[in-house]
Amino acid sequence: MYRLLIFALVLALSFSCSENTPEVPAMSIKDHSYSNVNEIRTVHLHLDFDINFEERVITGVARHTMENSGVTEAIFDINALSIDKVTLGQEGEEVETTFSIGASKDVIGAPLSVKIDEQTTHVNIYYKTTEESAALDWLAAELTMSKKFPYLYTQGQAILTRTWIPSQDTPANRITYSADVKVPAGMMAVMSATNPTSVSDDGHYHFVMNQAIPCYLIALAVGDISFASLGRNTGVYAEPGLIEEALYEFEDLQKMVDAAEELYGQYLWERYDVIVLPYSFPFGGMENPRLTFANPTLITGDRSLVSVIAHELAHSWSGNLVTNASWNDFWLNEGFTVYFENRIMEKLYGKEVADMLALIEYQELEQTTKSFMDAGKSHDTHLKLNLDQRDPDDGMTDIAYVKGAFFLKTLEETAGREKFDAFLRSYFNTYKFQTLTTEDFIAYLNENLLDKHGISFNIDEWIYQPGIPDNCVVIHSTRFEEIQTLAREIKQNGSSIPDTLRRDQRITQEWLAFIREFGEELNPETMRKIDAQLNLKGSGNAEIMTEWFILGIHSGYLDIRPEMEKFLIKVGRRKFIKPLYLALSQTEDNLKWAKNIYSKARQNYHAVSVNTIDHILGYTAN
Ligand code: BES
Ligand code: ZN
Repeated sequence: MYRLLIFALVLALSFSCSENTPEVPAMSIKDHSYSNVNEIRTVHLHLDFDINFEERVITGVARHTMENSGVTEAIFDINALSIDKVTLGQEGEEVETTFSIGASKDVIGAPLSVKIDEQTTHVNIYYKTTEESAALDWLAAELTMSKKFPYLYTQGQAILTRTWIPSQDTPANRITYSADVKVPAGMMAVMSATNPTSVSDDGHYHFVMNQAIPCYLIALAVGDISFASLGRNTGVYAEPGLIEEALYEFEDLQKMVDAAEELYGQYLWERYDVIVLPYSFPFGGMENPRLTFANPTLITGDRSLVSVIAHELAHSWSGNLVTNASWNDFWLNEGFTVYFENRIMEKLYGKEVADMLALIEYQELEQTTKSFMDAGKSHDTHLKLNLDQRDPDDGMTDIAYVKGAFFLKTLEETAGREKFDAFLRSYFNTYKFQTLTTEDFIAYLNENLLDKHGISFNIDEWIYQPGIPDNCVVIHSTRFEEIQTLAREIKQNGSSIPDTLRRDQRITQEWLAFIREFGEELNPETMRKIDAQLNLKGSGNAEIMTEWFILGIHSGYLDIRPEMEKFLIKVGRRKFIKPLYLALSQTEDNLKWAKNIYSKARQNYHAVSVNTIDHILGYTAN
């Protein structure tokens, strides 16, 4: 309904403005962006925002300082924004200009074409966000911990920045940014930039990001937020009621930064802080520079999910410093990051733990690869993707993440760790603050690792062919074998569960290996016995609960329903709720139950998750 309204609005706007600019060009979309960055590009963006929680609207100006090669049109990406006016020139000397808005496409949005001069270097776009601005999650105070203030946070990646900032929304362009943000007094605002450590008196905040970043990394959170320091350049932001727990959970943050620097070179973003957002945050973590956004499901009380933080920290090199040029090259961001994450985990917690993490991921890669192959989508198992005409979200699979990481692990094994680390250090250093394509990487790899040391390697097969190549590194874990054997015995012989099997003596990944070893189904009576001893259904660890719930759904183990209901209403992280709703949608009875839960839970999810779950439960056409 709203989508229709917006569509009508955009149509009306484009009509009313086209009078002034008759020469509306045929807009081309390249790599999910309409922008003509090769002709004119933003180098600095200043944002002036007023955050209105009553109306759930950001009213703002996006002041683009641009490098113009001498063109008379600047094209920006917008999606679900209402444009009030556009001016040219520096603040105070502005002259209004004409603009037109092309037809809006689902996901991609519309081109905003601004009439400029060959000399224009300053374009100021005055606008408002709308209810359909998908980057924004506005939470009522009741949905926060303290219930004192409402909450707002943004999610830009992959192409949602255009739903809250008119921008050249392609990772191929890097910009610096600054912002003046006005929020209700008493609330704190933080961004992926220099941040306050205490609440301002008047609700005004000023931010600066002096390192050039792709615009999907611009991020904002506003709420009842406090700060606590963890180390030299690390700390946590969270709602006051959660700050102590966050401090305990992320105690190793400083050690992680130090370990990462030892591995691949200096941390170039000054501070590294983590903000724990509300449960609706659709990801485990998001690598917004200087300030990782994290889901509270990472706070388990036993530090068992900190590898997600290692992952987001690793993005400070892979992704944020060296960036994929397009979403087809997404594996350059995520594959490198999963590899790097594992190296940080190895350095801090040893090889045995790192191997278990990698092995769990490998199991997922095998599953994902098989299901793509079975569905006749073998091209989706290539590292280099072709996401033309598709949502870049489609590329967010275990292929980019885990096949990418195993490609690098296999390279490491072939070249030897010393040579490979030297190669990676020089790679990050050579391409820092730049973007690159898969092909740029291949050329660099050939020249600086393979040819240099006379190594032959099946790069083409890894990057442009389907499936997992035969030379992929194989990982063993005796701790996994032990718990898998136990699972098989329990399943086959109904053996009792040894008293020595306790929750606190094994890491999360061992429990996942245990659950997975049962296969698709397990006798509900056995599940009940296991829960009586281990309480997996109420374990409080979202990774374990999700996989146990899925096994329970397939096994007809209905005891999980109360816990699962609570979980689905509270947690909006897509990685968990997507497989749960998928499993639930397979029988009529479960689907009915899921739809009822979803009617209560939907308002607690971010648009990213809503889109996915609407689709699974059949609430959308596409
Ligand atoms: N950058 C991603 C999240 C993302 C990717 C958001 C693509 C939107 C589009 C982030 O670093 C990530 O991968 N998060 C994972 C963590 C994990 C792999 C350790 C998550 O949220 O589950
Ligand atoms: Zn990532």
